[in-house]
Amino acid sequence: MAEREDTLVFIVGAGPSGLAISACLARKSILFVIVEKEDCCGSLWKKRTYDRCHLHLAKEFCSLPFMPHSPETKKYMPKDDFIRYIDDYVSHFNIRPRYGHSVECAHFNEDEGKWYIEVKTNNMLPSSNNIVTKVFTSTFLVIATGENGKGFIPDIPGLKDFKGDVIHSNQYKSGLQYAGKQVLVVGCGNSGMEISYDLSNHEVNTFIVIRSPLHVVTRDMVWVGMHLLKYLSVSAVDFLIKLASYIKYGDLSKYGIHRPKNGPFSFKALRGRSPALPAISRINGTRVVFKDQVEYHFDAIIFATGYRSTACEWLKDYDFILDENGFPKNPFPRHWKGKNKLYCAGLSRMGLHGVSSDAIAIADDIHYLLQN
Ligand SMILES: Cc1cc2nc3c(=O)[nH]c(=O)nc-3n(C[C@H](O)[C@H](O)[C@H](O)COP(=O)(O)OP(=O)(O)OC[C@H]3O[C@@H](n4cnc5c(N)ncnc54)[C@H](O)[C@@H]3O)c2cc1C
Ligand SMILES: *[C@@H]1O[C@H](CO)[C@@H](O)[C@H](O)[C@H]1NC(C)=O
Repeated sequence: MAEREDTLVFIVGAGPSGLAISACLARKSILFVIVEKEDCCGSLWKKRTYDRCHLHLAKEFCSLPFMPHSPETKKYMPKDDFIRYIDDYVSHFNIRPRYGHSVECAHFNEDEGKWYIEVKTNNMLPSSNNIVTKVFTSTFLVIATGENGKGFIPDIPGLKDFKGDVIHSNQYKSGLQYAGKQVLVVGCGNSGMEISYDLSNHEVNTFIVIRSPLHVVTRDMVWVGMHLLKYLSVSAVDFLIKLASYIKYGDLSKYGIHRPKNGPFSFKALRGRSPALPAISRINGTRVVFKDQVEYHFDAIIFATGYRSTACEWLKDYDFILDENGFPKNPFPRHWKGKNKLYCAGLSRMGLHGVSSDAIAIADDIHYLLQN
């Protein structure tokens, strides 16, 4: 028989979202258990980001509830500073995630009105690899497993026979190991752009695939835009930021970069997660053949083609709150609340700012339900 434990609130994942909810619940003295499959909190930041990674949003949009960044913190925090902030947050609110606890399955029991959560635990003593299954039951269940659960690599004919290295951007650390090589970066979101820049600083012959139109803006333009959104409409902000980009970069179409019709802020809302289909038609040995039939040799390919949510893999009753892609079904701003006391935090595609507001809303809702 598996060991059993009952709790009021059960939180899956000790990234920024799970920690933010924990802090909000602790302040209201609401009992909870938080589990994390890795051996540390903030594992995305500690284990799956590249060395030169900085937060691409300014610090005022990247804090968790009840603990603003100090005035000395850099405007765009290096990842190590952000990791230190997460560790300080955990100790400040005395959060005790249960590490090495991976949720394998969760479902709602209608008769009891409770969530049943199956967890694989390993006791993490290096000498043993005791894997034990434990069952938790809870009244409330909070999904905090993130938008970046697993790296997505598109299916390209010939890719599995590619003779060079293939990695996802979440495995990339630095350009050092690629010095003197010819490397293809697929995808041109923040990660793709930053990795390309890092590679070119390491004497790597870097190519980047740009599949569709995109906006080129500086992070300060985004910063100004985010503040302006408090006062102006999205279309007004888009107009100003497009103008700023044009003044700074001029016409980029000679480099094959075209601006989309929608402005940068509505662009993000609309195209947040369209499937990445790079303009590669196939791969043959170490040669990549592009849609226009041009082909080049590459030593390595780095896919910065985004991530997939993994919540639907373990949550059997995901349709109480999520669609089949693992993202909220309900529109903003009530996206965080589902049926049968099921909640999700950090899945609204609004970065740490969204994480923080989801956490506050969820804790307030749980508090309200317990009072009434
Ligand atoms: C390269 C990169 C740069 C980014 N830069 C920024 C930025 O500048 N500003 C910004 O606002 N956002 C940024 N983000 C977005 C980022 O997703 C958020 O900042 C934040 O990490 C989200 O927190 P989260 O807790 O929702 O998810 P995560 O940080 O992904 O945490 C989820 C946790 O759940 C755990 N977990 C998953 N499945 C299970 C399971 N079955 N059982 C137990 N535990 C599980 C994972 O191990 C992980 O620790 C960036 C993301 C990436 C990848
Ligand atoms: C792959 O490349 C080799 C030469 O390197 C060529 O002989 C072969 O026809 C190519 N295969 C395809 C499917 O294009």
